[in-house]
Amino acid sequence: MPIERVGVIGAGTMGNGIAHVFARSGFQVTLCDVEQRFLDRALETIGGNLDREVAKGKTSAEDKAAALKRIVPALQRSQLANCDFVIEAATEKFQVKAEIFRDLDRICRTEVLLASNTSSISITRLAAVTKRPAKIIGMHFFNPVPVMKLVEVIRGLATEQETLDTVRDLALKLDKIPVEVNDAPGFVSNRVLMPLLNEAMYAVMEGVATVESVDEVFKLGMAHPMGPLALADFIGLDVCLDIMRVMQEGLGDPKYRPCPLLIKMVDAGWLGKKSGRGFYRY
Ligand SMILES: NC(=O)c1ccc[n+]([C@@H]2O[C@H](COP(=O)([O-])OP(=O)(O)OC[C@H]3O[C@@H](n4cnc5c(N)ncnc54)[C@H](O)[C@@H]3O)[C@@H](O)[C@H]2O)c1
Repeated sequence: MPIERVGVIGAGTMGNGIAHVFARSGFQVTLCDVEQRFLDRALETIGGNLDREVAKGKTSAEDKAAALKRIVPALQRSQLANCDFVIEAATEKFQVKAEIFRDLDRICRTEVLLASNTSSISITRLAAVTKRPAKIIGMHFFNPVPVMKLVEVIRGLATEQETLDTVRDLALKLDKIPVEVNDAPGFVSNRVLMPLLNEAMYAVMEGVATVESVDEVFKLGMAHPMGPLALADFIGLDVCLDIMRVMQEGLGDPKYRPCPLLIKMVDAGWLGKKSGRGFYRY
């Protein structure tokens, strides 16, 4: 079945980037969220990011306008019924995603593949809430989606080869590079990255160094383009906390305990760049 119409659920940091790259590559996109203001904000962000691509000569003004026209905002999930592929990029909580997958399973044609952009939640567990576990897969984009090349493709226990092949092809059509991994909490990317970010937070909490010093160590000493605390702010501190909790629960090792400073900052509503304050002010 050719994939022409793509549904994206969740129009936040990742959802708007995913809608952007699908629309840029010629797919029709239905972008779905729970409130109109989230959809409006996403379309504004996509427009601004496309403008930046035009300014850099990566795309033309006509292509920008055509890409924007391909994105239809939607508040009702039933509007995804005609989609050939759906990717979920909603909040990193199992219950939220499970409800969405149960509903998509009811709404979408039986042959439609359903993907999750989850950073850490089990694809096998999400697949088990549907009647099509062979057609459920992880398609994990990286932030900022229009720029980052990697797509971590996660195979759940029941994911069939055809599903994997289709998603790999889809990633290539988006000009991304798919890398296949098996299902485990945090997959590869976040299993390795998040403990680094978490440890950097402990270093700040314990007074080992300032936020700026920790980030400088990584930029100058390890040639990271961005320090771990700036990166945590960019990812979203709430997202980092959710991922640490999934790994703590799923892997059971105390080394995945979220840093108390991270918990406190999320409680305060300091979520990083998206809320204007995190380890830095924006
Ligand atoms: N932020 C990152 O750097 C990053 C990177 C890779 C993957 N992810 C993953 O992508 C997913 C989304 O993360 P994000 O950073 O975009 O979060 P976000 O908080 O920016 O956006 C989440 C969006 O989902 C919407 N949403 C929540 N429940 C919904 C529902 N039931 N139906 C429809 N929409 C719903 C929210 O209104 C919000 O707009 C998470 O699973 C996260 O782990 C995040």
